[in-house]
Amino acid sequence: CGGGGGGAGASGGGDGSITMGFSQVGAESGWRTANTKSVQESAKAAGITLKFSDAQQKQENQIKAIRSYIQQKVDVIAFSPVVESGWDTVLKEARNAKIPVILTDRAVDSKDTGLYKTFLGSDFVEEGRKAGKWLLEEYKSGTDPVNIVELQGTTGSAPANDRKAGFQEVIGGEAKFKIIASQTGDFTRAKGKEVMEAFLKAHPDIDVLYAHNDDMGLGAIEAIEGAGKVPGKDIKIITIDAVKDGMQALADGKINYIVECSPLLGPQLMDLAKKVVKGESVPARVVTEETTFTQEQAKAALPQRQY
Ligand code: AHR
Repeated sequence: CGGGGGGAGASGGGDGSITMGFSQVGAESGWRTANTKSVQESAKAAGITLKFSDAQQKQENQIKAIRSYIQQKVDVIAFSPVVESGWDTVLKEARNAKIPVILTDRAVDSKDTGLYKTFLGSDFVEEGRKAGKWLLEEYKSGTDPVNIVELQGTTGSAPANDRKAGFQEVIGGEAKFKIIASQTGDFTRAKGKEVMEAFLKAHPDIDVLYAHNDDMGLGAIEAIEGAGKVPGKDIKIITIDAVKDGMQALADGKINYIVECSPLLGPQLMDLAKKVVKGESVPARVVTEETTFTQEQAKAALPQRQY
């Protein structure tokens, strides 16, 4: 770290160099890979020295990484918490060491919001609502029951909790929508496929799959095709993220609708980091701007898609 002092702008204000310790969730999805690339490239472009660690979807690894960044006296710590709960102790350790913390992508449920400077990321509840609104529109004319299966993200993670809640909020008012099965696929393609295979065996009458990310949806498509059904037709599919592979499946008619979740958080993260290291005030919450894609819109957007 530039000035070696650590904490509260000690080196950030000294020779101008900043060291960020970043604890990433893992490499579970196409979204995550794009997010990691964005963080790494943006740090370089901003002249910020990045210490990066991949927690392989384990909270204990993230806590270890954060403690090691505290020991190394980095200027700022940023992390994407794998689950929402259980962060207070380590966040207090960072605060005692006067090292500012930025939450990126996912939130924590700490009551003391003074444990971190800001939270940069998507509104996951809104993403779930957008998925639900598409479904309402798609089935607005019918009265028959609509049997939905849900592939949830990592248990206890903010996107899994919030995307479930937002979706439920929108479809909950109409009795014809029935979530007949809901299980975690841990945001991975392999788990998405495995769980969907089990859903298909247990429920011959699935109308809709709501997957909390593209990767699980893509794994589920393999399971659906393996069961002799046509994804996008026999079973309608809604996913979240809009990474290239998801967008391709949408353009090919295998997915019906995708709610975007942008992984390109790097540039904003570096701007926020510079400010907090200087001791400048930043907004408590920075929400990412996002859109949605139909099959036609995916065809048009694919050639320019960056990730
Ligand atoms: O936290 C963001 C989520 O994490 C993405 O939607 C998912 O693909 C990733 O693994």
